[in-house]
Amino acid sequence: MEAASNVTLTPEQIASFHEQGFLVLPAVTSQEEVADLRQVFDRLFASKAGRKEGAQFDMVGHDDDDAAPALPQIINPVNYAPELRDTHYRANALAIARQLLGPEVTPAFEHAILKPAERGAATPWHQDEAFRVDPDFEYQQLSIWMPLQEATLENGCMEYIPGTNKGEVLPHRSPGSDTKVHALECAEGFDPAKAVPCPLPAGGATIHSGRTLHHAGPNLTNMPRRAYVLGFEIPPKPSAQARDFYWNRDKQTANRERKRAWRRRGGVLVEVGRKLRGGVWRSPGRLLFEVRRALRALKGS
Ligand code: NI
Repeated sequence: MEAASNVTLTPEQIASFHEQGFLVLPAVTSQEEVADLRQVFDRLFASKAGRKEGAQFDMVGHDDDDAAPALPQIINPVNYAPELRDTHYRANALAIARQLLGPEVTPAFEHAILKPAERGAATPWHQDEAFRVDPDFEYQQLSIWMPLQEATLENGCMEYIPGTNKGEVLPHRSPGSDTKVHALECAEGFDPAKAVPCPLPAGGATIHSGRTLHHAGPNLTNMPRRAYVLGFEIPPKPSAQARDFYWNRDKQTANRERKRAWRRRGGVLVEVGRKLRGGVWRSPGRLLFEVRRALRALKGS
């Protein structure tokens, strides 16, 4: 059975999202589903799902095979747990994204994030758009961030700087100038003292745009902090204005090497199959973007 959505935003919530760059919702799915998702997440992280493909890695360390990661995450966990395909969370998230960005919106990526108990590291201040490897497109994207247990200041709830969604992408860098680390941190141009922490119950959500500056503190509690992020966007079109996200050019992360090796072994065909199964062909705009992006990647390699 197809999961149904039941979240309708008020005009005030929609206006506030565009003004402040973020929105807090107390519930986007049921507690039963959150409990199921916790089990799925624990299984995926314990079994290192996606690691060989470069899809599971440590965000803030060197991602060595035998070191305990400080901030493990999985890109597109749905590839390793098909039960994630049909959730109320997904149906609600799509409905919310359509209300905020319009009917053209399509799913773009997803993310499972774990901050391990007592040693889960802080997520540096950043704008999500700074991670885009191809800056020559115009992006209109948002992320829906749902904690699978309560999110508090002690375990690393989200914190936002209101209004930063209206500015440009600020300069970013690798933390400690270490290009072997996957994370980016915003280098300048914002005031962390203006941060608004957003504690949430399990199954609530914060929503932020691609330019809203955000971070999350370390996990100081004795319980893991898990979050499930669903990302959406208007299919990006080539930009008239050239931009240089130089901070992505010199990255030398272990997960990128694993991904390259996996693609060479035939993983690229698996990727195409996943995109088709994910319904990329249903949106002509999305399909065009994927083709343009693939051609640019070929040209650049
Ligand atoms: Ni982010």
